[in-house]
Amino acid sequence: MPDSDTAIPSLRGARPKAALAAIIRALPTPSRSAVRAAIQALTGDRPSSDHDQDGPAPQGLIMGDIDLYWENSFPLIEGWVNDRWREHLKLLNDTQNRLGITGHIGEIGVFHGKLLIALAHLAQPGTKVTAIDVFDDQSKNIDGAGVGSLDQLTSNIDAHGPRSGLDYAFVKADSAALNAADILKLGQDRGPFRLFSVDGCHTAEHTLNDLLTAQDCLAPGGVIMLDDMFQAHWPGVTEAVGLFYSRYVPRVKPFLYCAHKMFFIGHGWHADFLRLWSEQFGQRPDAKLTQMYGNTFLSLFP
Ligand SMILES: C[S@@+](CC[C@H](N)C(=O)[O-])C[C@H]1O[C@@H](n2cnc3c(N)ncnc32)[C@H](O)[C@@H]1O
Repeated sequence: MPDSDTAIPSLRGARPKAALAAIIRALPTPSRSAVRAAIQALTGDRPSSDHDQDGPAPQGLIMGDIDLYWENSFPLIEGWVNDRWREHLKLLNDTQNRLGITGHIGEIGVFHGKLLIALAHLAQPGTKVTAIDVFDDQSKNIDGAGVGSLDQLTSNIDAHGPRSGLDYAFVKADSAALNAADILKLGQDRGPFRLFSVDGCHTAEHTLNDLLTAQDCLAPGGVIMLDDMFQAHWPGVTEAVGLFYSRYVPRVKPFLYCAHKMFFIGHGWHADFLRLWSEQFGQRPDAKLTQMYGNTFLSLFP
């Protein structure tokens, strides 16, 4: 119980988890973890992190809760992650789990980790989480697509990432300079990937290379997420997808487009994922089944 002289914040209008977190925040520090553990043991649930806009940053969130991350930490991390992707990431994760699709997590173009940490909150213990970025070697960021920082990334992971059980690696590299041996090593050491985000340098050449890297390291049933597709300020990304389908015979097809993010999956899974997304989202006013390079995908726009 709180000390009698501890000020308990007003809870009027607060959501239950936020209210619980507010009570816990008011407790003396040594009591907090014991109270949290007791609540979790009793309810199977857990209160929100004790972080809020005014308080100190939490020292790592409890493993595996993307909603908790989105509510508590997400607004505090700089980056380019659309709020609308949360429901798709969750459905992706649930669907892959249900279908027994396994693998690791990776991203090219990590910046401060806003998306990578969200993906980490979907990971099972033991998952490898790989961040590839030029970091402080910004001479290789030739179109200025965000200035990555390893220090900021690792401190965000410490403060907002899942608390335990993940194997992180930070690869400082110009993704366009990865050769066949590097990509093989990436796949062998850190893959195969079930969730891989491509969001590095946005030139057509870089994006095409990154798509090919992602495809080569993808797990069966893994999904590639490509940022800034059909984004007027970053035409290189759309150009790269054109080159991907006109110059190669890719092993992945798009099944979803939402808020400038294109989601690709291997041919054998495409029909199932497309059907599922069409059932879940196809009736929305912004939904349209459409085609590109002979591939059908659900487009949610705007
Ligand atoms: C748009 S930001 C990524 C945003 C991030 N995905 C997020 O969750 O907010 C682009 C990132 O790509 C990195 N980058 C730029 N050029 C690169 C290259 N040639 N190779 C690897 N990373 C690169 C930048 O340093 C920057 O961190």
